Amino acid sequence: MEPDQQKMMQGVGVVAGPPRPDGHPSTGGESAQATPSEIENAADESARAREGAAKLPPLSLYVHVPWCLRKCPYCDFNSHQRPEVLPETDYIAALLDDLRTDLPYAQGRELVSIFFGGGTPSLFSAASFTTFLDEVHKIIPCAADIEITLEANPGTFEQERFNAYRRAGINRLSIGIQSFEPAQLLRLGRVHDRSEALRAADIARRAGFDNFNLDLMFGLPGQNLDAALADLRQALACAPTHVSWYQLTIEPNTEFYRRPPTLPGDENVADMQEAGITLLAEHGFVRYEISAYAQANRHSRHNRNYWEFGDYLGIGAGAHGKFTGADGAIHRTRKTLMPSHYLRGADGRLAQTRMIPVEELPFEFLLNALRLREGVPAALFSARTGLDLDAALGPALTRLRRDGLLVPGSTRLCTTPRGYNHLNTVLERLL
Ligand SMILES: C[S@@+](CC[C@H](N)C(=O)[O-])C[C@H]1O[C@@H](n2cnc3c(N)ncnc32)[C@H](O)[C@@H]1O
Ligand code: SF4
Repeated sequence: MEPDQQKMMQGVGVVAGPPRPDGHPSTGGESAQATPSEIENAADESARAREGAAKLPPLSLYVHVPWCLRKCPYCDFNSHQRPEVLPETDYIAALLDDLRTDLPYAQGRELVSIFFGGGTPSLFSAASFTTFLDEVHKIIPCAADIEITLEANPGTFEQERFNAYRRAGINRLSIGIQSFEPAQLLRLGRVHDRSEALRAADIARRAGFDNFNLDLMFGLPGQNLDAALADLRQALACAPTHVSWYQLTIEPNTEFYRRPPTLPGDENVADMQEAGITLLAEHGFVRYEISAYAQANRHSRHNRNYWEFGDYLGIGAGAHGKFTGADGAIHRTRKTLMPSHYLRGADGRLAQTRMIPVEELPFEFLLNALRLREGVPAALFSARTGLDLDAALGPALTRLRRDGLLVPGSTRLCTTPRGYNHLNTVLERLL
């Protein structure tokens, strides 16, 4: 099992974690190098081999901004305390250069979503996003209804700037609240207080963002059930369309790992989760993924594309991408991790391209797809991996269905409620 899969199995991915195309640990050794020009050549051949881009998965774009006002003690994302002078203009130029280099991977497809993640992308000015997005439209076609999300931190909210973000074409925000409780915000090392968190949601609405997510965490140091539910109630009162509710995990290479805080016990955390799911459902927020809750038609299209094993270009320091080649082989890319190296781009920005071996595809597909509460149509397996489902997984699926962990019938790949509660077990049995 590869490190990334191990991490998922240990719970970061399956139990709690946010999607992480930002520079999380490598998914394994260097292998099967494919340069953009090789892909381009292969793309030419693909005109004969394929019926065109329609057969390829939907394509998204992830853009990583690696700076924050301050590093939080629980966070292992590729994020660094900002330098005194943020190299914003140079970074936007580097991102565009990176995108042009990755363009062959798109193979003529349009973008269905863009996600600016971090770090704290809302440190950048609206003018930078306007420049960037105007250029993106010249480089690559974008769907008429493209979803463009910006991760934004309370503490960086100013009304005029968020009005301008909206005018720049950003149509969805993901606001990192974590908690509304003053003592908790201090423990979590957040730069914002409760009133700034409330103000952020207010500013988002006034700027015309009718579609915004709030990120909250639970299982926080010293937290009890009432406090966890109070955070959720306050979040709901801010009228978001989506709530990402993550269980705090202690990650290596963080301050919390070096000096662990006292966390609530597993049973308490399980109670919080159960009561939270009920509360969110009562307010119309349906759990559609391990940590994602949304009103009807307000799922994160960008994240869904990850979970449905779609393709995505990943640009920016440490960004990960995934693309399907003209021959149907699936590749993962990873960009230079350190912002300074990325900015220089001297030896290119692509740190690694790796073809996913065919034998790993079934597990990788299900590791993502089974995160979705309703799973996916069984036919998506062949459409995304090019493999035959029965040949790849038939006996294992039969056993999981027999044991009541997957729903019966062959039209969907979907866990039962018990299977969803024991997703790690289900995945282990698919390995
Ligand atoms: C890319 S991160 C940061 C977004 C934004 N910079 C912020 O902090 O507000 C996205 C989300 O991941 C969640 N997260 C980060 N570290 C986590 C951890 N150790 N355990 C659980 N969730 C975590 C937080 O809710 C965070 O808002
Ligand atoms: S602000 Fe967000 S990305 Fe930055 S260190 Fe804190 S949690 Fe990580």
